[in-house]
Amino acid sequence: MSLLELDDVKVHFPVKRGVFFDRTVGHVYAVDGVSLTVEAGQTYGLVGESGCGKTTLGRAVLRLNDITAGRVVFDGTDLAALPSEEMRRARRRLQMVFQDPLGSLNPRQNIESILAEGMAAHGIGATREERRTKILDILDRVGLPASALSRYPHEFSGGQRQRIGIARALVLEPDLIICDEPVSALDVSIQAQVINLLEELQDSLGLTYLVIAHDLAVVRHISDRIGVMYLGSLVEEAPSEVLYAEPRHPYTRALMSAVPVPDPTVEAGRERILLRGDLPSPAAPPTGCRFHTRCPWRQPERCDTERPVLTDMGDGHRVACHYAAEIAAGTVLPTRDLAPRVLRDTDDTDGTGGPSAPADTEGTGGAEDTAGTVPVQKPPPAADPQETPGTGGTPA
Ligand SMILES: Nc1ncnc2c1ncn2[C@@H]1O[C@H](COP(=O)(O)OP(=O)(O)OP(=O)(O)O)[C@@H](O)[C@H]1O
Ligand code: SF4
Ligand SMILES: [Mg+2]
Repeated sequence: MSLLELDDVKVHFPVKRGVFFDRTVGHVYAVDGVSLTVEAGQTYGLVGESGCGKTTLGRAVLRLNDITAGRVVFDGTDLAALPSEEMRRARRRLQMVFQDPLGSLNPRQNIESILAEGMAAHGIGATREERRTKILDILDRVGLPASALSRYPHEFSGGQRQRIGIARALVLEPDLIICDEPVSALDVSIQAQVINLLEELQDSLGLTYLVIAHDLAVVRHISDRIGVMYLGSLVEEAPSEVLYAEPRHPYTRALMSAVPVPDPTVEAGRERILLRGDLPSPAAPPTGCRFHTRCPWRQPERCDTERPVLTDMGDGHRVACHYAAEIAAGTVLPTRDLAPRVLRDTDDTDGTGGPSAPADTEGTGGAEDTAGTVPVQKPPPAADPQETPGTGGTPA
């Protein structure tokens, strides 16, 4: 049995308007039908660009957000259906580590007080001395000295504060830790140290992680399995090494193509997919495949009207794209008007790092137009009303 199982989880925030009476005028579909499982002792990495619903999903697991629909089964119990007092008790086993360690630590409490607070609330340690012994053990495990006990959050560096955030989760003896962008606020040199620490703690304490990040490079080494989110849903999910070796969804390919490769030869020839436009608003998601407004491989009709479901393509590699097999086989090609977005670095003639101007906007060009690019085909005839979608701004 998996430690955590999400079954078609939805979190829709109502959008209210009105001076005297709040009227619900719409919904923000922040999480819209996510199913995934996290195995005990493993790490699940959840990636996607800003605003796609990662934090909302993490918070929904802890029921810090109301769950609109679906089940969150933790160690055999559906958390979504638990009465609030039982949920409060269950929360000890599910902890969260936040992106901004300073913002999540009370500046007026010293470290001992911060760490002991949750222990007392959950009945861990009968006396202050017992709690102190436990705290000292955890501080040592996260690489902080005993002298940290009497100090305050502002006296520590960013990396040390994140260690305190991890210690605060660990003193409650959790089974699952949700790490929401655990290293995004840290210098690159410190990021690796914190990721290594999380891995060491996983080995020594048998922890299970759900690691949320917008950066594929962060989750790559730590994750056993990776899920890629786009606009409230998973578009692809696979064991880490499979996803990196063979990304199948056009969005994953675009994300992956943004990660530089250290080898200059590979880097020079690597596929680079530049997506046009921002993430559409989750308050008005596109019809059909939610990625169709930005997808270079978009095909007429079906992509615009039918929402693809996550389908297992073998080896536990799940993809939500109608044409995943054809794209992999090269029988469905990126469309011509979107071709400037599917380039190799050598095509960046304007030197801006962005796409070059399309040489052939009529789509009449032959192979010579696309030398050095991924093969392309003519665009689908339908005009796209959502070609320049909003920025995902959300009514409060
Ligand atoms: N309480 C709320 N009420 C209304 N909308 C919300 C609420 N919380 C989040 N949202 C919206 O839900 C969407 C998903 O937000 P979320 O914070 O989960 O994204 P994210 O993937 O974590 O982004 P980031 O990488 O920037 O942290 C966004 O459009 C956000 O504005
Ligand atoms: S279903 Fe269509 S629009 Fe969506 S990712 Fe696949 S090819 Fe692109
Ligand atoms: Mg977030």
